[in-house]
Amino acid sequence: MNVHVSSVQWIAIGNLSDIPVRGARCVVTPLGKIGIFRTASDTVFAIEDHCPHKGGPLTQGIVHGRSVTCPLHNWVIDLETGQAQGADEGSVETLPIRVTDGDVIELGLEPATLAAVADG
Ligand code: FES
Repeated sequence: MNVHVSSVQWIAIGNLSDIPVRGARCVVTPLGKIGIFRTASDTVFAIEDHCPHKGGPLTQGIVHGRSVTCPLHNWVIDLETGQAQGADEGSVETLPIRVTDGDVIELGLEPATLAAVADG
């Protein structure tokens, strides 16, 4: 999903300190399971927790640089673009994410997504 950041609603989902450096957490959102990844330099990314190969849990993979290696068959997924790297083809959705007050992680969700949940 490539949404315009200006159109999203920011939802606090936890704290940066809850995620180990080079680690990840899975959060359940109206869009499904989303992986929140923290790099060695404290950059945070949000992508679907569902490998484009066979659905492996990317949050259980190894974070290196700005990528994660899937624990099942070692596909490498770029955390910024959601694209599989190297010879592998496929991608996962990326979501807007930011850190405020130095420690609060906020995920950007489209108002339409949130409205659908409220209606459902
Ligand atoms: S399921 Fe991720 S590499 Fe196969």
